[in-house]
Amino acid sequence: MDDVFDPQTASQQDRFLKDVLDGLAKPKKTLPCQYFYDEAGSNLFEQITELPEYYPMRTEIGILNTQAEAIASALGPRALLVEYGAGASTKTRILLDALQDPAGYVPIDVSEDFLLQTADTLKTEYPDLAVHPIAADFMVELGLPVDIDGTPVGFFPGSTIGNLSDDEIDQFLRAARRLLRSGSKFVIGVDLRKSPDILVPAYDDAQGVTAAFNMNLLERINRELGANFDLEAFEHQAIWNDEASRIEMHLRSLKPQSVKIGGTEIKFDADETIHTENSRKFDLEKFVALIGATGWTLRKDWRDDRDFFSVLLLEADD
Ligand code: AVI
Repeated sequence: MDDVFDPQTASQQDRFLKDVLDGLAKPKKTLPCQYFYDEAGSNLFEQITELPEYYPMRTEIGILNTQAEAIASALGPRALLVEYGAGASTKTRILLDALQDPAGYVPIDVSEDFLLQTADTLKTEYPDLAVHPIAADFMVELGLPVDIDGTPVGFFPGSTIGNLSDDEIDQFLRAARRLLRSGSKFVIGVDLRKSPDILVPAYDDAQGVTAAFNMNLLERINRELGANFDLEAFEHQAIWNDEASRIEMHLRSLKPQSVKIGGTEIKFDADETIHTENSRKFDLEKFVALIGATGWTLRKDWRDDRDFFSVLLLEADD
């Protein structure tokens, strides 16, 4: 059978190609980290969260478990939980179990299949809860379902906010402020600054899972865009950038080489890198300064006893 032309798939692939070629044409080559999460990448990320070196996931879950009652009482009754990025829902369940008479759950995620799967699971587990999934990029302007009342509460766990640039954080929090209305609250997980002795292994683990996660980006470009990256000729790097307070992931070219993507040839020098991800580690004062103009004020800061991670409560300014 001939291939069926699907404009939606075609345009997603065109966009992927454009983003890849734009990033690799820059003097300092980059690739957008959002493309990590195809099926293989999402499975690898799942494995990362279970690694002994990768502390963020289990630390945040620990804080949510310990502080569940305090968080629920700060949020009050009839919360309408709006989750940015539908995760594995372990954290969602902790909040839903603690909340007093929650009004509903609105997960927002670009990956429609994953989103609907999460929504279905939660509907089965919480039959009285109104669940209203929204398949969309949460950086764009959205509307809340009108048929659910309650106080909107944003939920953005995982320190995914650390993968965004200052401008993206500003855009995201302003859009969230418009969506969630006045009187609303926002629960955000942020990873905190700490010793590079802890940070670097968390992004360059002994089993090589994070390396495979980073390399999967090149494999995905080969698979989906017909490129010819030689996977033996690149290696994973995790670098602590102290000034920018972030872990940077790179893919380093082990030799001078050229790669073909579509009709375009990309040249690499030996040791030249492709910068694939920033994972910021926040200092609370700087975070507060960053969100200052976005319409949110910091109200609470719940932490683990090592001060590794923080679950923050923001409140919408009137
Ligand atoms: C999704 N995000 C919060 C992860 C992080 O820690 O920045 C992505 C990740 N990259 C490498 N390991 C995990």
